Amino acid sequence: MNPLTEAIRKHHSSLANTLKAHARGVGGNEPQPEREAFVRFLKGDLLAHAQGEERHLYRLVDELVRSFARPTATMTVDHEFINDYVAKIEQTTRELADAADGERSRLSLRLRELALQLDAILELHLAKEERIYLPLVEAHVDEARQRAVLEAIHGGREEEKNVIQGRPLDVREIAPRERHKLIFETFAALEPEEAFILINDHDPRPLYYQFAAEHAGEFTWDYLEQGPEVWRVRIGRSA
Ligand SMILES: [Fe+2]
Ligand SMILES: [Fe+2]
Repeated sequence: MNPLTEAIRKHHSSLANTLKAHARGVGGNEPQPEREAFVRFLKGDLLAHAQGEERHLYRLVDELVRSFARPTATMTVDHEFINDYVAKIEQTTRELADAADGERSRLSLRLRELALQLDAILELHLAKEERIYLPLVEAHVDEARQRAVLEAIHGGREEEKNVIQGRPLDVREIAPRERHKLIFETFAALEPEEAFILINDHDPRPLYYQFAAEHAGEFTWDYLEQGPEVWRVRIGRSA
């Protein structure tokens, strides 16, 4: 038996259901008493619940987290929800692209609702990071370590971009007779569906014909930039 946690879960689900019902009922031309009942619920039930937790539950939770949990686990849950909302927004946007007229207003409304929900979650999430975590960093982490973490965050993004788009291979400084060898070696090292971005100072069209002759059906070739000074081509290995 877990009398405390069972009671909390039950109370949470009743709060969430009541809030949802009120949220669906207000914001139109509902009667004034309905709005007032909503405010009564928010102050009498929702805020009372929060105060109860602040007074009697969080001290116990702090103690437990210190011994048994990762304090930022709650932030990871936020990120999970944010991911989920982004996926739902993407899905609804896709559905709207070829929605029949009868479906369009329902989907538009849903898109708006999702955007507003994400907005609320993000506002809360950013406040937590900026009010709790960043001041800790400011008070306790020196500039060098801050820079190292900053670089790791940016480096991580670069790395992701490289996986999706391909690593850059800039041959502009390489002697012309060595360029082709280097390019074909780079291609040979690719796994299926991997790619690299060739950066050159002229149109590498002749190279395309060489690929077509030697690797027909094995490569992809996409111009990302075509001069006049720089040419960038995404060269990939087919799946
Ligand atoms: Fe709660
Ligand atoms: Fe975050």
